[in-house]
Amino acid sequence: MLAKTMAEYLNEQLNLELYSANLYLQTSAYCRYKGFDGAAAFLKIHSQEEMKHMQRLFDYLSNTGALAFIGLIKEPPVKFNSLENVFKYTYAHEQEITEKINNLANIALNTKDFLTFNFLQWYIAEQNEEEKLFKSVVDKFTLVGDSGSSLFLVDKDLQSMASNLQHHTIE
Ligand SMILES: [Fe+2]
Ligand SMILES: [Fe+2]
Repeated sequence: MLAKTMAEYLNEQLNLELYSANLYLQTSAYCRYKGFDGAAAFLKIHSQEEMKHMQRLFDYLSNTGALAFIGLIKEPPVKFNSLENVFKYTYAHEQEITEKINNLANIALNTKDFLTFNFLQWYIAEQNEEEKLFKSVVDKFTLVGDSGSSLFLVDKDLQSMASNLQHHTIE
């Protein structure tokens, strides 16, 4: 049985993962609207990844006798100044999530909740991957600049990254 406070913290994280899923879906809509179909595909697939993060927490809470609850999820931002800004925003978001996960692991350790500490290891590794992924996209903009043809290239690149991720997901 999970301690009540730990269940509350994990519920908070569950709701944050739902927010993340919405954020990526919303940014996908923005990109599609602006004609960046590659970025849109990439972000939409990522939204599905975030739903899996949510599910994992949902199952952990249920399997440890706690009650998972879905709260009110705040609205993600709808408008961005540029495609580059979308990815700067999502990269910063991933960094924030990493901080949250690290905090949770720290609490688990300090309260000797080793089961939860062990459960969180997956998220620690996953956040490392996600930060790397989003940083690599932000770096692309720095490399190629923000001319129309550069953005076209980055979008094409994101399309092939999306195809690879899709392939990975199916496996
Ligand atoms: Fe996540
Ligand atoms: Fe994420």
